Amino acid sequence: MNLDLTQEQTMLRDTAREFATREVAPRAKHFDASGEWPADLVKRLGDLGLMGVAIPAEYGGSGFDHISYALAMEEISAACASLGVIMSVNNSLASDPIWKHGSDMQKREFLTPMASGKILGCFGLTEPMSGSDAGTMATFAEKDGDNYVINGSKNFITNGPFADLIVVFVMTKKNIGHKGVTAFIVPTKTPGFSASKPDEKLGIHAAQSCSVFFENCRIPESYRLGGEGEGFKVAMGTLDGGRIGIASQALGIARAAFEKAVAYSKERKAFGVPLADKQAIQFMLADMATEIDAARLLIHRAAFLKDKKVRHSRESASAKLFASEMATRVTHKALQIHGGLGYTRECDAERHYRDARITEIYEGTSEIMRIVIAASVLKD
Ligand code: CAA
Repeated sequence: MNLDLTQEQTMLRDTAREFATREVAPRAKHFDASGEWPADLVKRLGDLGLMGVAIPAEYGGSGFDHISYALAMEEISAACASLGVIMSVNNSLASDPIWKHGSDMQKREFLTPMASGKILGCFGLTEPMSGSDAGTMATFAEKDGDNYVINGSKNFITNGPFADLIVVFVMTKKNIGHKGVTAFIVPTKTPGFSASKPDEKLGIHAAQSCSVFFENCRIPESYRLGGEGEGFKVAMGTLDGGRIGIASQALGIARAAFEKAVAYSKERKAFGVPLADKQAIQFMLADMATEIDAARLLIHRAAFLKDKKVRHSRESASAKLFASEMATRVTHKALQIHGGLGYTRECDAERHYRDARITEIYEGTSEIMRIVIAASVLKD
């Protein structure tokens, strides 16, 4: 793996950085305080080619590699973690499985508008009684001629209130565990589909999530994504990519908190000298910088393997595990460096601290990441 960025990777990173700095960062506090959906910024992500970064141009994407995707995710998330996950869900969780497993018709009808940002996607795996143990879902699709009729519900669906389609995982056969899971693409305007009011969360307020319901929701067989019984593997493979996105989100949050802590430590004086002159602060900054670098290297390794089309479940899990726990540690220290000010809404440190926390939970908790890594370690 080459550590130098290519010209293309640098170009995409710089495009994302400029957009993030000029248009996103100045409004992040507002979106956090109001929980307002950042509609115009979501549209701008599409205009800039950031809603389908690694999807080929013939299907509406930008045709970059996954290192570019990770770099762009880091930049957007450093400015606004909510916008970061909105982007990640559309890229990794909704577009990528259709690119990998979709029919030509599905790629034309769904992927092309989604990867170009004209429509928005979401991903439905979790249910009230089936979170980490994803193979135990209850939502069921019954075959009826050339259609399937879906009944059940999914929760914590990021982008759910605004999505035009959901890539959803349901049982098509009972009592055979994960082998009974099948994936479908369901346009959200389909009769029988509905969404709840948005969830109230600790952080990432503008990345609205909700529960979604399927009541005799009838879709044609042509909307099935992959074969019957293949859905669990579609979901797991998709999450291998999604975890690169969330690890990059965590990295972006940590980097933003770190940069602000460095600036504050140079400017704020205590005991007659800037905080940065104190070794206690220097040691914190040194640990933060080292952990941020380590996370980025793990993320780029996982992205590199994804581009090589090599199975990267373990590397993605390591990247997400380390980056998300690192983001919690780094944002904790950044808030501490800001002292009392850091605990107030005036300061971005408390937003970063709250936003970081979810990265240890969604797209697989840290405990699930350890299970995935340990399974690979013990198999070797
Ligand atoms: N790629 C391809 N196949 C895979 C795979 C992968 N990454 N992981 C597992 N499989 C296959 C296995 O090889 C196995 O195949 P066979 O039956 O042919 O042997 C099959 O899938 C079942 O595997 P396991 O026995 O390992 O399955 P398990 O039931 O023990 O579950 C798990 C494994 C890792 C715990 C899994 O359930 C998991 O990842 N859980 C976490 C779920 C999760 O991440 N949810 C996040 C929701 S999405 C979200 O959060 C979105 C958002 O808001 C932003």
